[in-house]
Amino acid sequence: MKVSSIVSVLALSATGLASPKPKGKHLPTTVIAGAIIAKFPDFLYWHSMRTWLLGAATINANATLKAQVDLEAHALGTILHDLGWDMSENSPWVTKDRRFEVDGAIGAVNFIKGHKSYKACDWTENRLERIFDGIALHGTFGIHSYKNIDSKWITESVGYDGVNFTPEQVPSDKFASIVKAYPKESFQKGAIETFTWMCATKPNGTYNTFIEPFGTHYVPGYNSTGKHSFDRITAGWNPDQN
Ligand SMILES: *[C@@H]1O[C@H](CO)[C@@H](O)[C@H](O)[C@H]1NC(C)=O
Ligand SMILES: *[C@@H]1O[C@H](CO)[C@@H](O)[C@H](O)[C@H]1NC(C)=O
Ligand SMILES: *[C@@H]1O[C@H](CO)[C@@H](O)[C@H](O)[C@H]1NC(C)=O
Repeated sequence: MKVSSIVSVLALSATGLASPKPKGKHLPTTVIAGAIIAKFPDFLYWHSMRTWLLGAATINANATLKAQVDLEAHALGTILHDLGWDMSENSPWVTKDRRFEVDGAIGAVNFIKGHKSYKACDWTENRLERIFDGIALHGTFGIHSYKNIDSKWITESVGYDGVNFTPEQVPSDKFASIVKAYPKESFQKGAIETFTWMCATKPNGTYNTFIEPFGTHYVPGYNSTGKHSFDRITAGWNPDQN
């Protein structure tokens, strides 16, 4: 089921969630964001939508969180978090050298700043930075839990849509309706193909990250020897003499 471009209203009512009230003026920013990711392959479009909805369902089930999280920033940060997975030629988001999370973070902020409604909205540098951090941190473990609530919940929501993973935090009825509307079956294959493509096409952005093993295992000629922090830190070190 592809919900075309009217993602915010339709998807929320389709999954029985309360409609989030953005803190800023209510402008149809998520409609445009949905249209961008609707061009992605199904597995990625579905992953982006699930990430938003699984997070929103969890936030909506907790009155404290619902009152505190910037739901507009959460929607944009989750829906746009994987712009760096865009394997299409001449992608406006993907670079040859940056890690994919940074491509996504920069792409999402540029998208918001370039939107025709940007000036009319309450986008402050602080809100944009929260989105940037929430996206930039989503491939690095052990940090997001200690961040501000908005960055934290963008990354947290991404974690709810892991491969081979059912998040216990998400209300189970909401989880079932979300994965029914946006199927997960093709996600593992799509993720592995995408991570392998990153290693083949932009190895500099993959060394020393969780992406690296996909290159080592699946990309002939991929060589991360000497590319690790460990290599630099231990260069010249002889434990027997020091
Ligand atoms: C709601 O979220 C707050 C903030 O994260 C947390 O402290 C609280 O335990 C949650 N309440 C429930 C019922 O899960
Ligand atoms: C990759 O890194 C190497 C070594 O730091 C550098 O010489 C090269 O220009 C980089 N390539 C790209 C595409 O960024
Ligand atoms: C990998 O790179 C290292 C360091 O540049 C080099 O010594 C090694 O021979 C390379 N391994 C392969 C299999 O090419």
